[in-house]
Amino acid sequence: MRIDIITIFPKMFDPVLNASMMKRAQNNGKAEIFVHDLRDYTRDRHRKVDDRPFGGGSGMVLSPEPLFRAVEKIKQKVSAVGGKSKKQKTKVILLCPQGRKFNQKTAKSLSRCSHLILVCGHYEGVDERVRQHLADEDISIGDYVLTGGELAAMVLTDAVVRLLPGVLGDKNSLNFESFEGNLLEYPQYTRPSVFRGMHVPEILLTGDHKKIEAWRRKEAVKKTRRNRPDLLRLDKNNVPRLSAKKFR
Ligand code: ADE
Repeated sequence: MRIDIITIFPKMFDPVLNASMMKRAQNNGKAEIFVHDLRDYTRDRHRKVDDRPFGGGSGMVLSPEPLFRAVEKIKQKVSAVGGKSKKQKTKVILLCPQGRKFNQKTAKSLSRCSHLILVCGHYEGVDERVRQHLADEDISIGDYVLTGGELAAMVLTDAVVRLLPGVLGDKNSLNFESFEGNLLEYPQYTRPSVFRGMHVPEILLTGDHKKIEAWRRKEAVKKTRRNRPDLLRLDKNNVPRLSAKKFR
């Protein structure tokens, strides 16, 4: 997968893209990630990327021209590199608080794309023509307002890249994750079995895999009910409907 990120703060991405899983994915050739300074796509001497909103109001709005130029240039470059036979399917995503809320399902679906262009919104907003005519989707990472789309682009990139085949070492760790089957993950413990008088649940030390599986399922439901009742799909008897897949 190739990911191009368009931002007015390119340096923000250095530490995140050069550590941990993101670095490994790039080193292993599973992901190519490029960060572009939006100001490089301006035409004026002052490298101006924003302007005052029509109709008045406070703050500045990101102008359409540099964003359209950046996306068009990147698309041209990628299709030239890919050649005619290997046509890339590009998805352009605008990160902004008004977008569709991001979740694991969207991360999975995006992980099947070959090319993403992430546009980081800023200031009071982005000219609406970008959303309507340049972006394929607008995405928000949650119901709060960040100072810009950069952190959101990092969150999305991390969530997507770790799902690419071959990025996570242990394939099983994907099967048992939170949100699989609409449940949060069950509680995990490691050694020591007693720490400062706090005991690991006895059942986990028995080696009885059937019982451990049943306990984990029960605990996952309990945790989901407590922290995220909105995730639980209930049947007509008010019992959570579970996907068996998660616990296999
Ligand atoms: N920019 C500012 N807030 C945001 C959010 N919650 N999600 C995505 N981009 C944003």
